[in-house]
Amino acid sequence: MPERIAEVTALLAEVLAPRAPLTVIVDGGDPGAAAAFASRLAAAFPAGSRAWNIDAVLGLSGPGAGGFDSALNVLEPATDQILVYLRGGPRNRFIAGDGERRAQVVIDHRDPDWPVIRHVHPSLADPDRWYLSESRAFFTARAANWDVTFGDDLPAYAKAVREAGVRPGDVALDVGCGTGRALPALAGAVGPAGRVIGLDFTPDMLAEARRAGRDAVAALIVADARRLPVADRTADVIFAAGLVNHLPDPVAGLTELARVTRPGGRLAIFHPVGRAALAARHGRTLRPDEPLSRARLIPLLAGAGWETTHHEDGDDRFLTLATRLP
Ligand SMILES: C[S@@+](CC[C@H](N)C(=O)[O-])C[C@H]1O[C@@H](n2cnc3c(N)ncnc32)[C@H](O)[C@@H]1O
Repeated sequence: MPERIAEVTALLAEVLAPRAPLTVIVDGGDPGAAAAFASRLAAAFPAGSRAWNIDAVLGLSGPGAGGFDSALNVLEPATDQILVYLRGGPRNRFIAGDGERRAQVVIDHRDPDWPVIRHVHPSLADPDRWYLSESRAFFTARAANWDVTFGDDLPAYAKAVREAGVRPGDVALDVGCGTGRALPALAGAVGPAGRVIGLDFTPDMLAEARRAGRDAVAALIVADARRLPVADRTADVIFAAGLVNHLPDPVAGLTELARVTRPGGRLAIFHPVGRAALAARHGRTLRPDEPLSRARLIPLLAGAGWETTHHEDGDDRFLTLATRLP
């Protein structure tokens, strides 16, 4: 079994086994994928609970692209019934509805040999247990091709940096900087008197940034946005592209960004494609209550110490600007 499948099933078994007796229902993915994943998950349960759980784990693979509904649109989650949804396969087209909506566990399964946990309901496990290792696994697999896939976006980053009002002499942090696509524009805007720091918790992303020579314009630091190794009130401006939607607790993350920003400092939350296109890229549909929706984001920012000054949620880009409250 590929090591990644073993890691994911071991982690889930560790989280779920103490909750037995329970039924785990796996659905989604390519035809047959749910049954295969369910049997691997059953095998990962510790010996003591294994006999019981092998019977309990079901794989409902369904007929795929026809008009059939996902089992997860019908079943209700309960404390003794865990719904696991595999993103990917024919249901990615959402002909049959968004099966992951009710699932307590969501796994990116577009590459069946590289499954990655994307959501575990907080009642099952604290994000600290899975978020860092799984998010890194997600982005590590994408690091080498990141710039090849998204390289054309660089002018859009430069425009967003201009609109964020970055000034000569500023200290600018690019949090979740990835391969550093915003770093040259940030460095140009702060000029020789300023300073740019790129922070990301996926070392392979920063390695690609170095390979692209972006360490010449910015310091690169491996760090978790939820616990930045940066003193209070250091930054004049924070650039966060494609970060906030990945944070398990957006208000805590935005509060941490506020901590390291001086009063009056600015935050730019950016993505070079619209939210719906981004969700589709991740194999899911957009929910009305997503953290980046206007209705949620502006109160979230206010609760974290930011005043929103601009909110643009278009089809082809997302840009919210906010100012750190005193
Ligand atoms: C969608 S990518 C965007 C990368 C880059 N900002 C860009 O626009 O090309 C998200 C990046 O955020 C990083 N990331 C996600 N959660 C993070 C966290 N809690 N702390 C630090 N980096 C994080 C990932 O490793 C990844 O490189």
